[in-house]
Amino acid sequence: MTSENDAPTKVDPAHGNASDAESDEHAVAPPATAHEIARRQLLGKMSIGLGVACGAAISVPGVGFVVAPIFRDEPTEWRAVGKIDAFKIGETVNVVFVDASPLPWAGVTAKTAAWLRRIDQTNFVAFSVNCAHLGCPVRWMEQARLFMCPCHGGVYYEDGRVAAGPPPHPLTRYPVRIEAGQVEIRTDPIPIG
Ligand code: FES
Repeated sequence: MTSENDAPTKVDPAHGNASDAESDEHAVAPPATAHEIARRQLLGKMSIGLGVACGAAISVPGVGFVVAPIFRDEPTEWRAVGKIDAFKIGETVNVVFVDASPLPWAGVTAKTAAWLRRIDQTNFVAFSVNCAHLGCPVRWMEQARLFMCPCHGGVYYEDGRVAAGPPPHPLTRYPVRIEAGQVEIRTDPIPIG
């Protein structure tokens, strides 16, 4: 007859006997050696470095996209828009010219326009056709002597100042000069909004 105490003890095949398995559970890891500590520190530094490199690789193109236009020199060109005698004093007319840096495939979109007014024998003033609000083309109303924007009701006085509506600033003016009997407009970039 066998008693409870006589039941065979289970032996952990990996560790030899039951008391060994029990002691393994409570075993304390041996202290790390100096070599191991140095290795862990090196791995830690490498993972931080890798994280910084990945962050830079992701963010640098985005930052460049935002900041580049601030440092890029916008091209400007003088464009002839007609002989001086083709313009009557006091008249405001629409003139079309090629943008400063047209893309090779731009086609007709390479062209831009301005409202040109001859003030006297030698002086002209040119306004951008693009509304200062969101860039819609403005129309010159000869009778009212106002520039009107059809998009959101922006109105400008004949000198380009805002008369009504949402435009945040006056119409942009282009520099104008006369060269060899030709009226020329400088194709400056137009601030919108
Ligand atoms: Fe001209 Fe909005 S684009 S008023």
